[in-house]
Amino acid sequence: MKKILILGDIHANYPALKAIQTYIRPDRFDRIVNTGDFTVYSTFPNETIQWFRKRKKTICILGNTDRRVLRILKGKKIKKPRKKEKRVMYFWTSEKLLPENIKYLKSLPQQTGFTLGSIRIGVFHGTCDDTDEELFPDAPEARFHKLAKDSPYQIHIMGHSHVPYYKIVDGVHFINPGSVGRMFDGDPRASFAILKVKSDKIAVEHFRIPYAVEKVAKGLKKNNLPDIYAKMFRTGTKTN
Ligand SMILES: [Fe+2]
Repeated sequence: MKKILILGDIHANYPALKAIQTYIRPDRFDRIVNTGDFTVYSTFPNETIQWFRKRKKTICILGNTDRRVLRILKGKKIKKPRKKEKRVMYFWTSEKLLPENIKYLKSLPQQTGFTLGSIRIGVFHGTCDDTDEELFPDAPEARFHKLAKDSPYQIHIMGHSHVPYYKIVDGVHFINPGSVGRMFDGDPRASFAILKVKSDKIAVEHFRIPYAVEKVAKGLKKNNLPDIYAKMFRTGTKTN
C-alpha cells in the first residue's frame, strides 16, 4: 500500500505545518503533495518553503499567492489584490524571501502529475483546466463530469478553495485537503488529508488538528503587520 500525505494552502503558517509533522510524522509517507500557496498571510514563508526543500519525496506546485509574490520579485506591478492589508502581506513576503527559497519557488510548475502503479494522479492548485478556479464541493455536478471526462487522471488533488472534500464522479476521485494554514469555516485548526492506494483500491481520510495559533499572531505583531490577520487565524474566518 502507498500512503500520500496531502497538504496545501499553507500560507506561510509554519506553526500549523509543524503541528501536522508532530501529529503524523511525514517522513513515513511515500509522497508528500503540496497543492500550492506556500506563502502570504503569515510570517513564516522561508520556514515553510525550507520544510519542503529539505525533503526528498515531495510533489509541489505553485499557487496563486506564490505566483503573485514571484511577479513582485520580477519588478512587475500587481493589480490584485486591491485591499491595502492584503497588499502589505504580499510585499512583506516578497521582501523577506531568501534567495534559495525564491529559486525553489521559481523551479516549481503550476500543475503536475505522477503515477502510483497504474493510477494516474494529477495535482492542481485550482483545477486541471484553470489554476485559479475555485472548485467547491457544491459546484454544479456538470462541472465535475466535464473535468472527469477531459482529464487523463483517475485522481485529482486540488487546493485553492480551502474547503476539504472528497468526491467520486464518473469514477474519478476529486480530493481537496482543505487549508493547512488558513481555514475559513470558523474552525481555526489545520486541515490536511491522507490518501491510501492499494492496487486499484483508493481511500481518503481528512484531519483537523490544533496548532499554536498564538505564534502566528505574535509573528504578525512583531513585524507590524495588519492585526486583522491575527483575528483571521484565531477565529478561522475570512476577515477581509
Ligand atoms: Fe490559498
